[in-house]
Amino acid sequence: MAAPKPLIAGNWKMYGRQANLAELALLWEKTAGAAKAVDILVCPPAAYVAAAAIQARGTGLLIGAQDCSASGEDAARTGEISAAMLADCGARYLIVGHSERRAQHGETDDLVRRKAEAALGQGLIPIVCVGETLAQRQAGETAAIVAGQVRASVPDSGEIVVAYEPVWAIGGTSTPSLAEIAEVHALVRATLAGRGRISPPRILYGGSVGPANAGEILAVQAVDGALVGRASLKADDFAAIVRAHPSVT
Ligand code: PGA
Repeated sequence: MAAPKPLIAGNWKMYGRQANLAELALLWEKTAGAAKAVDILVCPPAAYVAAAAIQARGTGLLIGAQDCSASGEDAARTGEISAAMLADCGARYLIVGHSERRAQHGETDDLVRRKAEAALGQGLIPIVCVGETLAQRQAGETAAIVAGQVRASVPDSGEIVVAYEPVWAIGGTSTPSLAEIAEVHALVRATLAGRGRISPPRILYGGSVGPANAGEILAVQAVDGALVGRASLKADDFAAIVRAHPSVT
């Protein structure tokens, strides 16, 4: 089976202003040549999704969002944003279950799965995040935690992306070794094998990916791309990560 097209996704988290959308034009200037080989996605805060989609028109950049309501229907839910609205604003992908939401908002695997299903229901591709904490890794629980999260938070069908993001690697400087990344990606793939999906899911690595380490991480065979936080805010850095993918010549 042909390898899936790699995906390099940027998660702006709660950073950026309208002025930062100009980075998208710069990003495209530096990555247009890579877009045949790699899907390039930027997920700004919800408030800027529509403007980002307009800014990205006519380029090959994809726009996504970072969270949505679990409700697939319009509803009396003050402050929530539905997958339908984000799709209407031009989002194509939706990050769900990021560890910051799991930790700061108490999101459970069940809620994450329902959000992913709401995204699928609107034709969006969910990026379902999983990953262990440092204490869990030190206790030798990585495989059990990650497999459990995958089983319970990934929907049973539809095109999905899984992002393996060790919680302890996010926002810092350390990452797992390349062998450890390969091992967890193989575990995620094995956990999903045989479930009713049409296409095999792309599995991204996330957590302290930057221009300096992107090349070696993206070259790991089981890695189908990256989910990038801090380094996605600057067009130069994000473009360097995109261009570091081994399929970009
Ligand atoms: P980081 O964040 O690249 O800043 O470590 C990654 C993420 O949280 O998706």
